[in-house]
Amino acid sequence: MPPTADLESEQQIVVRKSGPLLGEIVVPGAKNSVLKLMAATLLAEGEYRLSNVPDIADVAIMADLLDAIGVSTTISGPNEITMHNGGVIEPVAPYELVERIRASINVLGPLLGRYGRVRLSLPGGDDFGSRPIDMHVAGLEAMGATFEVAHGDVEARAERLHGADITFEFPSVGATENIVTAAVHAKGTTVIDNAAREPEIADLCTMLVSMGADIEGVGSSTLVVHGVEPGSLRSTDHRTVTDRIQAATYIAAAAVAGGELFLRGARREDMEMVLRRFSDMGLRIVDQHHGLTVCSEGRLRSIDVATLPYPGIATDYKPLIVTMLAVADGVGIVTENLYPGRFRYVEELQRLGADIRTDGHHAVVRGLPSLSGARVRAPDIRAGAALVVAGLAAEGETMISGVHHIDRGYDDLVGRLAAVGASIDRI
Ligand code: EPU
Repeated sequence: MPPTADLESEQQIVVRKSGPLLGEIVVPGAKNSVLKLMAATLLAEGEYRLSNVPDIADVAIMADLLDAIGVSTTISGPNEITMHNGGVIEPVAPYELVERIRASINVLGPLLGRYGRVRLSLPGGDDFGSRPIDMHVAGLEAMGATFEVAHGDVEARAERLHGADITFEFPSVGATENIVTAAVHAKGTTVIDNAAREPEIADLCTMLVSMGADIEGVGSSTLVVHGVEPGSLRSTDHRTVTDRIQAATYIAAAAVAGGELFLRGARREDMEMVLRRFSDMGLRIVDQHHGLTVCSEGRLRSIDVATLPYPGIATDYKPLIVTMLAVADGVGIVTENLYPGRFRYVEELQRLGADIRTDGHHAVVRGLPSLSGARVRAPDIRAGAALVVAGLAAEGETMISGVHHIDRGYDDLVGRLAAVGASIDRI
């Protein structure tokens, strides 16, 4: 696993204008799936073998957090971890770990449902505006939990949760995951309407079902969870779904640098909408056995895009799309509907010469034939990757600091790009 943020903070990624990119990239497993799969090991004693695990810093942080609670993690093979839940669980998530990773909130559902109490600090992670947990709390309260907040900690309790009918006003990823993982041990049936239906949630539900959970509607916006008796779930082995955001990152790289890449493991069914829009921009994306081929010839065309919950265009694709539009032919308008503060990286792209104006939750991007290399800073995971992609289309040298953000979610981005011909180094 890569070293954690403090050790990495001095490192930089240097990218030079590159292309065409040619060859094959193996797309790793999804960060936003594996972290939740790891948290699900709190639900039952035993040994779990998780495969297709990306080598990223967030996995190491999640392993530390679960270790503090009582589940140990060992690396048992290439991209494989084995987790051991010995049944001695302390349902307390310490501040030092929780503040580093948003997905720490995912221990709430399993711990409350299985052990009836949990204390955790309010979660940290990416810094793009306020990220409340009111929907997690309201859903669990409807199932009988009580919450107290004091000194930055949330303390939740429940004798045994009971089933409830829960309708989300917005399909929150984290709230859906927490309600499902709490409901698997609740007394009776929980129905979640307007549930988030990202592929990573379906992946989590598939693992829960193989542990013995009774869930209907997997992959849909209505999840029906029939609770089982506490203690009746068992451990399992599971392969993490491929990361659609990392797949899109390599598509964006080929898009701005030109070339042809085979993305092994990329799944069209998880990226239908964004692939359609990439095609509208002029990319040719062809289904293959076990992956997708992306072919980029000539200049991209501009499009308008709005982010929406799945199956809409994910907010996590947006920095990549803005980067592609920065070198496309024409003007594109990008609308952010999930995180109001998530345009901070625009200033960094402007340092590379990009013509982008933001107004509230809209960005107007006027494409230029090329960008110009400069020193920039990655403000978060996805924006960091987008700056690397932008560097491929920038004359001269682009130096990206804040590399520890990229390491949180990208498994060897530099090595993977270098292997297909990008001029990129980590120094
Ligand atoms: N929201 C609320 N109240 C809640 C929960 C969410 O107001 O109780 C709001 C949030 O503030 C935000 C929106 O709803 O404006 C979306 O939040 P959601 O709960 O769906 O997202 P999340 O679970 O916090 C996950 C991913 C994010 C990704 C979003 C949206 C993980 C660890 N994180 O966050 O991924 O952007 O879903 O798809 O799964 C990343 O990987 O870089 C990343 C930030």
